[in-house]
Amino acid sequence: MNDDETASRELIRLMTGPWVARSVAAAVRLGVVDRMDGAPVDTPDLAAALGLDPARLGRLLRLLSAVGVVRRDARGYTLTATGERLRGGHPSGLRDLALLYDSGLFADAWERLPETLRTGRTGFDLAHGTDVFTLLEGRPEDAELYSAGMAAGARFVRDLPSVYDFGGARTVVDVGGGSGELLHTVLDRAPDTRGVLLERPTALAAARDRLAAHVAAGRCDLVEGDFLAAVPGGADVYVLSRVLHNWSDEDAGRILRHCREAMAPDGRVLVVERVLPDGDDPWLSLVFDVHMMVMTTGAERTERQYEELLRGSGLTTERILDLPLEMRVLVARPA
Ligand SMILES: C[S@@+](CC[C@H](N)C(=O)[O-])C[C@H]1O[C@@H](n2cnc3c(N)ncnc32)[C@H](O)[C@@H]1O
Repeated sequence: MNDDETASRELIRLMTGPWVARSVAAAVRLGVVDRMDGAPVDTPDLAAALGLDPARLGRLLRLLSAVGVVRRDARGYTLTATGERLRGGHPSGLRDLALLYDSGLFADAWERLPETLRTGRTGFDLAHGTDVFTLLEGRPEDAELYSAGMAAGARFVRDLPSVYDFGGARTVVDVGGGSGELLHTVLDRAPDTRGVLLERPTALAAARDRLAAHVAAGRCDLVEGDFLAAVPGGADVYVLSRVLHNWSDEDAGRILRHCREAMAPDGRVLVVERVLPDGDDPWLSLVFDVHMMVMTTGAERTERQYEELLRGSGLTTERILDLPLEMRVLVARPA
């Protein structure tokens, strides 16, 4: 292959990425993935079981095999280790993320990317006429889809108690704590710690299920509220996991100031985010940065940008801890 063809193939590979993503999501939506539960399945049987056209299913499976989601042998198709992650009930939860990314909620917003760059309005607002969290308040089904996707993307929280010791904390407030995955993990690992989860009303529904045992044991309160207005007072740890990246510098500063004013004098604020590299290499955070531009008024930020935000809110970074998938924890104390 000459250089010219290599470059063209690479560009076409990039441009057809969305078609591959759509094919993966279709296999999830149609039940193809969940039907592959160990033994190889052949295409006609699979098509008959799912009411699909066998020839067309065969073509979809061939693509999924080429990109490493399934593998074929003489007896039929099985899931690869990558494909296994798309099964319902797999602990990665990545199936929920595949469905969320494929949904109109996200896809319609991404279509407006050029307009976002021209106008400064978010793609989400241009597509849906409001911001993401206001829309979800009025649409419980979409809120459930979003919440499941966020919980799937929050698997990094399992490692959080290993890198940060919550054992000394009396009370941890999870500000915008979503489905409660993070607080659940923290309370499991720190039996003497109490938890408070602050969320918008609709989002609290998922957290109520996840944290039911801790609430019943009197170790956890679920608080309906708006972190742009105030956060619960007096705790010694405030966690902001994937919250600040949804907000402009002005609003992110306001949220941090509320935490700074509410926290115990020796308290800590933990900012859990994908931190942008100084160069252009690691791709995950760069993709999510443009995604933030499409979906919200926020951005992924560099370490220096977070430090500036924290300093403007009376806080300073004490240390930075690493989590999987380019996630980091900025541990901040009063300046
Ligand atoms: C990207 S999600 C992150 C959820 C969770 N912290 C995690 O890491 O999985 C942002 C969360 O902020 C919540 N949120 C948005 N605006 C809020 C507000 N004004 N007050 C409280 N929570 C809010 C949303 O409902 C959503 O659950």
